[in-house]
Amino acid sequence: MAAIGETRKSLPAEIRPGVIVCPDAEGVARLAAARFLQLSVHFSETEGKFCVALAGGSTPRPLYRLLAASPLRERIPWSRVHLFWGDERAVPPEDPASNYGTAYRELLAHVPLPAGHVHRMGAEVADLDDAANQYANRLRHHLQLDDAGYPRFHLIVLGLGADGHTASLFPGERALENTAAWVIATAAPGAAGPAARRLTLTLGVLNAAHHVIFLVTGPEKAHVLWRVLEDPAADLPAQRVQPRQGERLILADAAAASRFLFGGGS
Ligand code: 6PG
Repeated sequence: MAAIGETRKSLPAEIRPGVIVCPDAEGVARLAAARFLQLSVHFSETEGKFCVALAGGSTPRPLYRLLAASPLRERIPWSRVHLFWGDERAVPPEDPASNYGTAYRELLAHVPLPAGHVHRMGAEVADLDDAANQYANRLRHHLQLDDAGYPRFHLIVLGLGADGHTASLFPGERALENTAAWVIATAAPGAAGPAARRLTLTLGVLNAAHHVIFLVTGPEKAHVLWRVLEDPAADLPAQRVQPRQGERLILADAAAASRFLFGGGS
């Protein structure tokens, strides 16, 4: 077994097809930001726009900060970029729990996105089902459909919860099995307060994407990343994200991938 120091020197490394381990969270953010730039230029040139769904939670914040700063801020074709969200909590934008609010503070406030290119989920309303339907209509307006009739994002950025959830698709929840809807109202099991109520894209939409990038960092994600990659019987929501005609890339830091780098078994 290589010494930990030696192992870290060999990073970034592709430890499985589509699974890249970086030395640290900043390395994950840099790789994700480089991919975001590459895809934004590609789809802006080939399709005239780049439609991306952002992740919630805290993991994506270093990515958002890199996109909002030089040199990427000047290189990304923001006039062609449309930002959406993979999920949102039932709180107003200024609430610290808001996924839109996090992206606004770290990214949107710093880049020249045209008005009308920021597609907030608006989950703070009383009727979440109606908000879900309205968001689905917005997807219909802006996105191409795949051959299964689902809207195709060019890129969806996702996080990974310690229980294996992604977006707001939680283990054992009905939302996971809903293959007809594009956007649904659901709830985070065990959570309390308004942030427990959620809107989320469904697996049908996640798996229609051209590209999906998971960002997984921190030692607290080591167990779940091992289960996602090594335990198909776990049947975790994140394991079901397998784009039908697209690429899934998992970017993890050494702390989250520790069981693959330094042993540690199942
Ligand atoms: C949310 C996210 C959720 C998140 C994971 C990881 O609204 O909370 O969409 O799926 O990505 O829970 O969260 P962290 O990045 O904070 O660990």
